[in-house]
Amino acid sequence: MVQNSPAPTPHPVPRHVAIIMDGNGRWAQRRGLPRVAGHRRGAQAAKDTVLTALDLGIEYLTLYSFSSENWSRPLDEVDDLMGLLRFTMQREASTMHERGVRLRVIGDRTRLPADVLATIEAMEAKTAGNRRMTAVIALSYGSRDEIAAAVRRMAADAVAGRLDPEAITPETVSGYLYTHDIPDPDLVIRTSGEQRISNFLLWQSAYAEFVFPETLWPDFDRTALENALASYGQRDRRYGGRKVG
Ligand code: IPE
Ligand code: IPE
Ligand code: MG
Repeated sequence: MVQNSPAPTPHPVPRHVAIIMDGNGRWAQRRGLPRVAGHRRGAQAAKDTVLTALDLGIEYLTLYSFSSENWSRPLDEVDDLMGLLRFTMQREASTMHERGVRLRVIGDRTRLPADVLATIEAMEAKTAGNRRMTAVIALSYGSRDEIAAAVRRMAADAVAGRLDPEAITPETVSGYLYTHDIPDPDLVIRTSGEQRISNFLLWQSAYAEFVFPETLWPDFDRTALENALASYGQRDRRYGGRKVG
């Protein structure tokens, strides 16, 4: 068999993509709509992105939905966001389950309203056995809170004699985080043109690649995700080592 040219090397698909879904407010503002309209469209984009990621073979997708700092927004916006999160999780849980998606929530659950907490627990229990993809929802999440909570538990375990302080390694620390069973993100995307991390996966993103599309989150679609993956595919991840070849 004659082969004229080698097959193009496909871009490696990142195993774990994490997204800071930013720009809902600006999307609404540009249309003269209330901010909640942007959040509604943002929730739709989040659901669509989970299904696209599944289709593209991404194993882990983390969506930053509500930060620990977002509690400081006006009460009506916080209420809108909590209501929308609960509604979306309730509405989409069955579809996600049918598609083999495991849903996981990371964040400080003690601050969540009881109905949101109950929804999360039901959704996680229902989808716990799914293995096609894991969708992680970061909700009431802040990396510094997460690390501080991990340090508190490590200190308690050391005092109780269950943890040898001399034996603590980076892997030990990772094991105390919400993400203890989730691989580190390979690619972090932040939409809306902002270029900052806003307390998201600080420890876990040590060697992630970053892309910052201008797209406002409600407009984020399959093409936008594919573009981000294409950028990722051009990166040369060296992890501090020497470039080979
Ligand atoms: C992201 O959109 C959603 C949350 C942070 C909950 P924003 O609400 O931050 O939208 P902008 O940044 O004001 O446009
Ligand atoms: C980060 O966006 C949090 C989420 C997307 C959930 P923010 O809009 O809250 O971040 P800052 O305030 O611009 O840093
Ligand atoms: Mg924002």
